[in-house]
Amino acid sequence: MCGIVGAVAGADVVPVLLDGLKRLEYRGYDSAGVAVLMQGEIRRVRKIGRVAEMEQAVKEAGLAGTLGIGHTRWATHGGVTEPNAHPHVSNGQIAVVHNGIIENHDEEREKLKALGYVFESQTDTEVIAHLVHHHYQTSGNLFKAVRLSLIQLRGAYAIAVIAVDQPDRMVCARMGCPLLIGLGEGAHYVASDVSALLSATRRVVYLEEGDIAELTRDHLHIEDQHGRHTRRPLHVSDVSLSSLELGQFRHYMQKEIHEQPKALSDTIDQALEDGLTSTLFGPEAETILRDIEGVQILACGTSYYAGMVARYWLESIAGIPTNVEIASEYRYREVAANPRHLVVTLSQSGETLDTLEALKYAIALGHQATLSICNVRESAIPRASRMVFYTRAGAEIGVASTKAFTTQLVALFMLCVVIAKLRGRIDASKEAAYLDTLRHLPGSVQHALNLEPQICVWAEHFAQKSHALFLGRGVHYPIALEGALKLKEITYIHAEGYPAGELKHGPLALVDADMPVVVIAPNDALLEKVKSNMQEVRARGGELFVFADLDSHFGEQEGVHVIRTPRHVGLLSPVVHAIPVQLLAYNTALKRGTDVDKPRNLAKSVTVE
Ligand code: M6R
Repeated sequence: MCGIVGAVAGADVVPVLLDGLKRLEYRGYDSAGVAVLMQGEIRRVRKIGRVAEMEQAVKEAGLAGTLGIGHTRWATHGGVTEPNAHPHVSNGQIAVVHNGIIENHDEEREKLKALGYVFESQTDTEVIAHLVHHHYQTSGNLFKAVRLSLIQLRGAYAIAVIAVDQPDRMVCARMGCPLLIGLGEGAHYVASDVSALLSATRRVVYLEEGDIAELTRDHLHIEDQHGRHTRRPLHVSDVSLSSLELGQFRHYMQKEIHEQPKALSDTIDQALEDGLTSTLFGPEAETILRDIEGVQILACGTSYYAGMVARYWLESIAGIPTNVEIASEYRYREVAANPRHLVVTLSQSGETLDTLEALKYAIALGHQATLSICNVRESAIPRASRMVFYTRAGAEIGVASTKAFTTQLVALFMLCVVIAKLRGRIDASKEAAYLDTLRHLPGSVQHALNLEPQICVWAEHFAQKSHALFLGRGVHYPIALEGALKLKEITYIHAEGYPAGELKHGPLALVDADMPVVVIAPNDALLEKVKSNMQEVRARGGELFVFADLDSHFGEQEGVHVIRTPRHVGLLSPVVHAIPVQLLAYNTALKRGTDVDKPRNLAKSVTVE
């Protein structure tokens, strides 16, 4: 979603701002802008559309300066228009960029109008700009003006503010949205995401909730929410620049699908080195996990589907009652919580607001055992959790989640085995067998990736369709849901995932020759049941596209197309079956010519509710 970058330096900061905004593009946005202090004025360029278009306008305007802020906007309050794009400027004197949502903006707008302020946009952010201007007029101190303004505002924010008469000063603040400060040589930077700063610095400090920071070229001053001077620890980011570049690939999604064997083996390596022990989840894990009576998983989107798969594993292998819930539902429900249940949040980005708020709600309900499985270090959700497991997928840029999903699955599988061991449900030979399956998993995933040429032929067919059904059973039912989500997200084809046994309770009415039906058909205990469900489809003239394990002896017939996935890999089979549905969605999107990495209306990090 929205992205922030800012800099105060001894040299022109415009290249840093533009580079940072390009690196933030993956988050999803619909307009972009920068404001720079130049010749005693705040000069601003904003454009709807891509950063490249805005960059062109910046060049034409000859923008340059040693203090500036930039933003990519994903519209919430007000449409996608240039006046609504950030930065917002008040009376030519204060410029602000903002991520998040100010809840009481209407109320504050009326008060500001009464004071004579004129609004040019429909955004909540313009309220911040005028409010800071108002307080700056009376206090003459930018830091103080920001603090006084934030006291009046309710909601979530990460902001960066500059003033026309403060050529070497920027003030930033966060509450509910991530913001970090980059430390350079005679320069300080601010960004919502470390990737925005990688070409300038890797040395960063993360602001905490309620922090306000003042940055000059060579000085950083942070105050916590109580106004106390504070220091935040220095981190050196290990995000590699190459992980943010496309290399030989056409799209990030394609790159990330093909990176899965490596992402999986990097994530599994931790267990192969030290065994499937509780230390994988932190030093406190053994004590905490030994005591739990159940597991509550909270997540959104694809991460939620990973949680659904885990429920099958946790209940069957570890014998522990498990509930999985969409975070945005959980956070507003009156939950009959059992504080002895472990709360597991799943999030690629670690920033998803609904998941973060659901976690905070669970903690408020008395849950003390919290674990975050996340792909982004130091992001908000792991920081709010007691235990953390970082998947090692590397940066995931494409909006459609792929390698984050499969690495979450192996992390959850490892958690399940650890809990099963602590509960005395498995012995050493079983553990060794699970480790062996994990060891061979990247190879099976590579085999599944090699099916792409056959999947491309199917994609040609799907690209002509308006609807599709995905069916699976048991632990593969969430893979059917994931296949449908991937297809709708990047091809805009309407798709639904169903447990195959549910077909005759409604969705069968949709089946005709125009409705392709994808079936996930692994060689497991439910295979014969799935075959019966397929008959129900064929009998209604439906065309079947079956992903069947090599050892499940499926034959092609009229109206039944089969692609053979690798030999059944046992309990980890959902990881392997995730690959063909990702490839089907990707190749169908290619044929339809959609914007694969930045599908319409979507954002990578969903930092608003
Ligand atoms: O970063 P998170 O895992 O918390 O994101 C959750 C969802 O927004 C995300 O999985 C979304 O559904 C993806 N675009 C799916 O491909």
